[in-house]
Amino acid sequence: MEDIHTIFLPETNSTNAFLHSYKGEEGRRLTVLWTDFQTAGRGQGTNAWESERGQNLTFSVKTSLENLPARLQYVTLEACALSVRETLSELVGDLTIKWPNDIYWCDRKLSGTLSECTLFGGKVTGCIFGIGINVNQRTFVSDAPNPVSLWQILGCETDRKTLLSSVARRLLAYLEVVNRGDYQTIHAAYKHWLYRAKGLYSFEDADGVFRAEVADVKETGPLVLRREDGRLSEYAFKEVKFII
Ligand code: BTN
Repeated sequence: MEDIHTIFLPETNSTNAFLHSYKGEEGRRLTVLWTDFQTAGRGQGTNAWESERGQNLTFSVKTSLENLPARLQYVTLEACALSVRETLSELVGDLTIKWPNDIYWCDRKLSGTLSECTLFGGKVTGCIFGIGINVNQRTFVSDAPNPVSLWQILGCETDRKTLLSSVARRLLAYLEVVNRGDYQTIHAAYKHWLYRAKGLYSFEDADGVFRAEVADVKETGPLVLRREDGRLSEYAFKEVKFII
């Protein structure tokens, strides 16, 4: 039996929401649900996710995990970001992972992920990765920050199904690394591909705008910034933003 079970729905509210209540097939490692249109596509926080009907990849991947401690759940998000970045890098260059898990082409957002894990008894028992990749959309109308599509970069259409299979296969391989407990390999690869990994840039936190360089991303997820005066500050998601 195939490890990956793929389902297509012409329309749904949100692929993440659908998979929450979908049990999955016995013996399959990943359940992938993709759709042409989400009526309530969710982005990070309270944001919506803009995606023109039938033009992009909007999908979610559900998996169970074997023995991952809850405090290390961030590695699943790293595995997912690496899978998407690697797949897209077969088509375009200049791709990085903007902390925590956006895929950027130069200074523009090509893909975003909404990752949700289930915890039980101090372990991560399962995850749903909701992934949006801007594929063939030609113009963006919402106030989404710096969106870009493959079509805008390449000037031609990309086959969505091929891209989808490629991300799913890579994700399966990275999740096997997670299940083996080799978190360091994934964390090192993730850090290697970070957006603005070197050099001083402007950031904004609750106290205002400041210049800093990325010093580290902890294996539990926080971003560590080093300010010009050498002071280190640690941030959880949404506590700091890149000024682009
Ligand atoms: C972000 O804001 O960067 C995260 C965007 C995640 C969008 C995807 S599209 C498929 C899946 N279903 C959703 O409702 N959201 C995610």
